Amino acid sequence: MKKPKRIEVAPADVSRQREIAKEIHALHRHRQTPPLALVDTYGCQQNEADSEIIRGYLAEMGYVFTDAERDADVIIINTCAVRESAENRVWGNVGALTHTKRDKPEQLIVLCGCMAQQESVAERVRDSFRHVDLVFGPHALWRLPEFIKQLLTERGRIFEISDTEGTIAEDLPQVRTEGPAAWLSIMYGCDNFCTYCIVPHVRGRERSRAPERILEDAKKLIADGVKDITLLGQNVNAYGQDLDGDMDFAWLLEQLNALPGDFLIRFMTSHPKDATERLFAAMARCDKVAKHIHLPVQAGNSRVLSAMNRGYTKADYLERIATARRYMPEIILTSDIIVGFPGETEAEFTDTLDVLETVQFDALFTFIFSPRSGTPAAEMDDPVSRAEKQVWFDRLLTLQNDISAKRHRAYIGTVQRILIDGKGDDARYGLTGRTEGGRLIRLAGDEALIGQFCQVEITDASTWSLTGKLVG
Ligand code: SAH
Ligand code: SF4
Ligand code: F3S
Repeated sequence: MKKPKRIEVAPADVSRQREIAKEIHALHRHRQTPPLALVDTYGCQQNEADSEIIRGYLAEMGYVFTDAERDADVIIINTCAVRESAENRVWGNVGALTHTKRDKPEQLIVLCGCMAQQESVAERVRDSFRHVDLVFGPHALWRLPEFIKQLLTERGRIFEISDTEGTIAEDLPQVRTEGPAAWLSIMYGCDNFCTYCIVPHVRGRERSRAPERILEDAKKLIADGVKDITLLGQNVNAYGQDLDGDMDFAWLLEQLNALPGDFLIRFMTSHPKDATERLFAAMARCDKVAKHIHLPVQAGNSRVLSAMNRGYTKADYLERIATARRYMPEIILTSDIIVGFPGETEAEFTDTLDVLETVQFDALFTFIFSPRSGTPAAEMDDPVSRAEKQVWFDRLLTLQNDISAKRHRAYIGTVQRILIDGKGDDARYGLTGRTEGGRLIRLAGDEALIGQFCQVEITDASTWSLTGKLVG
């Protein structure tokens, strides 16, 4: 297979797209009311960040946002392909839009994101979802204005899913989700090719943004009052490997930490094989870096880890956790687990339970293996029934719920620095916040505190959240 080419988008090409966005704005000028757009986002934070760019472009085109499908002039569905359940939700929702389009035939329906990058998806849309006007993958996101203009002026349908190693486009517009927390993409794509995972197939090769760009964005966020910046990438520990010079992720953390202001730096996701002592040392040194690491282990058995192509053994993983704790005894650990990888036996699964017991994660994201077509694991023998995998999954959850509840109880009586990030939905606790380790906390207090760091004494705890009261 020919190796596809990495494309850095020329600044003039991005400017051209933004010009087209203005032309679209002008096309709408005759309207009494502004056109409406709805953006529906599935999947991970990377997609949330992409949707902020989609909204940025739509705002430049003169669109105002709505939540009502029947009112929207444009509906953009930003999809996730990581598991079948995510895809099925999208198919269901896209199917339902035939009704809104029947009532509003000029409505534009757009499918983008990771699902859209797959040829099989494009084909199914082409043949069976004729109400969808535009399909494009993550690599073509920066060209959204061009596509919308073509649809508005010429109608027809557009499919843009050509395979590339991936683009990097800078200076795209953005409408951030409100609040004191923000995403900041530092790299795109993934080179790890875990055998179960579709992400490298749809998001292209690992490519890092230039550090000046990242620092510039961080400064802007801080100036905007953002207090909690999450650096995004599928494997942030690989940051810089594709850049000239010896910049790496630990170096980037130090640079961000040196920016003036009172803010917290988080990051996700870290791959255990690249989580080095150098990284933990940098985290420990940097006072603005949250003492939390999300380090997906996926499975506890070394044979299964090898079949997953994860690049570490159970012992390697536990050794990395021990190193992290040596540098930061208080570090909060969270992880992802896949239950029922093809060929995993019950005995092998119990190694995962053993890792949970040993590490004592604060929280876990747990999934049952979902075959993704085009990945090696989808072709592997998978003799264990879904029902049995569900039994293992429930065992895992029961164990983790006990651990989470116990870990959370240990917070009671402690005083934590909390970023108040929003309003609560419980009359007794009007505010929500996050600990440095990302734990949800509910508390009473004035809405004016939203966006501020406060000292909070933890008064109660459950499996999923903490409650507390303001002190000092
Ligand atoms: N880059 C990140 C995670 C990306 S996907 C990392 O490597 O950690 C988020 C999580 O979805 C993964 O950590 C994994 O636990 C889960 N996942 C990915 N592919 C899956 C599949 N085919 N079936 C079930 N879970 C999957
Ligand atoms: Fe998928 Fe593995 Fe890359 Fe994460 S590191 S995105 S699980 S291939
Ligand atoms: Fe899903 Fe794509 Fe993220 S497949 S998990 S939205 S990178």
